[in-house]
Amino acid sequence: MPNGAADSQAFPVGLFTFVLHGAGGDLAKRKIIPALAHLAQRGHFSEHSRIVFALRGPANLTEFLEEVDQFLEMAGDETSRKLLPGIAPYACVCDLTLGSGDAKQTLDEAIQGGPEPVVHYAALPSARFKDLIDCLDEVRDPARLRLVLEKPLGRNGAESAQIEQVLSSKLDESQIYRIDHYLGKQAVQNLLALRLGNRIFEPLLTREHVAHIQITVAEDLGVEDRAGFYENAGAIRDMIQSHILQMLAIVVMEPPVSMQADSLRDEKLKVLRSLKVPAVVGTQEIVVGQYDQGFVKGQPVPAYKNEKGVSPDSVTETYVGLRTEVQTWRWAGVPILLRTGKRMPRRFAEIAIQFRDVPKPLFDAVGGHWSGNRLVIHLQPQDKLELFLLAKSPGERERLKPVSLDLDFFNTWRIPVRDAYERLISDILRGRLNLFLRRDEVEAQWKFVDQILDGLKAHAIALHPYTSGTYGPPAATALALRADANWSEDGICSG
Ligand code: BG6
Repeated sequence: MPNGAADSQAFPVGLFTFVLHGAGGDLAKRKIIPALAHLAQRGHFSEHSRIVFALRGPANLTEFLEEVDQFLEMAGDETSRKLLPGIAPYACVCDLTLGSGDAKQTLDEAIQGGPEPVVHYAALPSARFKDLIDCLDEVRDPARLRLVLEKPLGRNGAESAQIEQVLSSKLDESQIYRIDHYLGKQAVQNLLALRLGNRIFEPLLTREHVAHIQITVAEDLGVEDRAGFYENAGAIRDMIQSHILQMLAIVVMEPPVSMQADSLRDEKLKVLRSLKVPAVVGTQEIVVGQYDQGFVKGQPVPAYKNEKGVSPDSVTETYVGLRTEVQTWRWAGVPILLRTGKRMPRRFAEIAIQFRDVPKPLFDAVGGHWSGNRLVIHLQPQDKLELFLLAKSPGERERLKPVSLDLDFFNTWRIPVRDAYERLISDILRGRLNLFLRRDEVEAQWKFVDQILDGLKAHAIALHPYTSGTYGPPAATALALRADANWSEDGICSG
């Protein structure tokens, strides 16, 4: 039996009613419904559990599942297509227009007689959250009612606070699952295990030993057909505000006193509250850009401004590279570089920790360039850890060269990695809040992001165009060099 086989055993999640709001949308079809299908196939659902697909307009279940099947075919997700019929025994559809006069009654009828807890999953733009919350009864009991909210919560801290106010009028914090699917990725959980289950790295993760940290989420895709959302969001709200700040918090937080949700969240919160806002003028610590036409994987692609649904004079950023700092005793002074962009040469996400050089080099470096140790946590396309150590290169001379110790988790466990949504939905049904965000974390994230966005606006900071198929504007390279770093490219970087 391979090492992790026991983990694939089904632990049934018990009875529930799961209402998917926005079931006809892209996220629901691409991620949430496939995740439900995979859970059903693993035998996680009890016989009388109920899944309600809330759709705007009349539909029947067979037609809706056919529509999802066609969507998955177009997306090339053959595995989920095969599993889709497994949902049918639990599922029904409901014609629901949130905000309409009879919405509450329609929703009440759809869930009537279904088992508790009732989980409402809002795969909706946050502008619609209030309409959904208006339909909920004030039931302050997580065993009876849970609500899942997709990010971003609002467009800024003020909008987010308004939503939170409405939420708290009906629900307690223990009922609210603010989802960030990056926390459901296996690699992020491996990161927690690496830091908190091993002694080896933890003592080294301090300002004495770390030269800099960089986090990259690079995407080869453009805005696709999400211009309506993206034009209002941009890379800072879409990726930095939650995904990247959450990963950063997990890398640099103090060890929590336990793995309970609030212990973890307390430690992440301290990090989020101690972030230095990048300077937008003077020694520039942030570069924003927008992709121009170019070639990605050999195919010509249009400029962002020419994408369907995008305004020809759009000033939405599709790239951001920034330098921050965690202003704590452990981390003060260590440059933290964060970067994300669309239409880059390839899709990869990683967290790279560059260690300082030895205090006095006793060896020569191959190629004359000395680069210290580096730990890279790869999130995608592969889930793996790589540790670059300096080893003596073969031959007479005492010259060192970085070699990589490579730990590929797929090769280790030989179990297909579960999609982040599958893991997170299973946690929601089990009532586990560890991998979800607490209200104060979201507030701290917005505070950081609002200050950046306000600064960029106040100083009319211009977007740097970058050619599609490159790793972003040259100004961002200079930003990294000022921190004695190079951005990682194709998984290769140097400090
Ligand atoms: C989403 C963003 O939250 O994450 C998208 O809205 C982005 O713009 C996506 O493409 C990236 O997720 P993943 O899991 O594909 O890296």
